[in-house]
Amino acid sequence: MAVIQTMGLSKRYKDKWAVDHLDLLVEQGDIYGFIGQNGAGKSTTLKLLCGLARPTRGEILIFGKPIRDLAARRRVGALVEQPGLYPDLSGGENLRLYAALLGLDSPARQVDEILETVGLSAGEKKPVRHYSMGMKQRLGVGLALLGGPDLLLLDEPINGLDPEGIREMRELLLRLNRERGLTILVSSHILGELSKIATRYGIIQNGRMVEQITAGELAQKCTDYLHLRCGQPQKAAALLEKEFCLIRWEMRPEGEIRIYENVDAKAVGRVLTEAGISVEEMGLHRQDLEGYFLERMGGADHV
Ligand SMILES: Nc1ncnc2c1ncn2[C@@H]1O[C@H](COP(=O)(O)OP(=O)(O)OP(=O)(O)O)[C@@H](O)[C@H]1O
Ligand SMILES: [Mg+2]
Repeated sequence: MAVIQTMGLSKRYKDKWAVDHLDLLVEQGDIYGFIGQNGAGKSTTLKLLCGLARPTRGEILIFGKPIRDLAARRRVGALVEQPGLYPDLSGGENLRLYAALLGLDSPARQVDEILETVGLSAGEKKPVRHYSMGMKQRLGVGLALLGGPDLLLLDEPINGLDPEGIREMRELLLRLNRERGLTILVSSHILGELSKIATRYGIIQNGRMVEQITAGELAQKCTDYLHLRCGQPQKAAALLEKEFCLIRWEMRPEGEIRIYENVDAKAVGRVLTEAGISVEEMGLHRQDLEGYFLERMGGADHV
């Protein structure tokens, strides 16, 4: 079942489209890694998804209901940009305050449960201003858990964390996903960290979805491929597809052919040459995860 589905979702600020025809699909049980560079439109998308901003165009369905639907919106917990924490209050006091503002039932019990879930002690009296970055971020996730949501929207919860903080956050998200069945959308510009937990990815650049892909598809795509440049690429592709019964191949911009199956490079060269097609470049390529994302996000400059 689709937990989030957007169709042509767009948001314009003055003359800039921060989100531009975004079609996003998050399925029940997903940990969805929403990846993009600074200014790509991640926070804006999350604000639209939790009703903090209104789309200029397009539609959003949450649990199959339009975003206007209050019952659907109540099933969403969100942490967008910085958590609004009161620095002089402790973590527990912050949670109790928000629980009261939300008018939750039995707030004290919920707060204690949440503190335990996010790994903060209920007896912790320290004011939040003395918290480490990791503790603050986990408390932020705790705030998003108030009200027992089925969907969590988290905007860069690992931003600024040290490796230990990142590991703790990763484990927290996995636990929420596996033990409580929460569907989680988590944005990041850090590639590798999400790859350890994400079941699906959306790559956003300049407000547009560059690619949406499951973890399984990604693993497949990151295996070896045969890279090929030749004269008449369309003709070559059709020929190779028929000759080698290819299923997994693609035509890249500028006529580069990539074959993701085990084929004998020499045989490929022979078939092309016999058909009078000149081979300009051919070689095996191994693509890692990092390279895959960088390529789709338009280079390494800002990451
Ligand atoms: N309230 C606003 N008014 C005007 N422009 C905005 C506003 N919010 C965002 N933008 C612009 O929209 C674009 C997308 O911003 P957004 O904050 O969604 O990106 P992001 O992917 O979250 O980036 P970051 O990684 O820096 O958090 C940017 O060009 C930003 O300057
Ligand atoms: Mg942002």
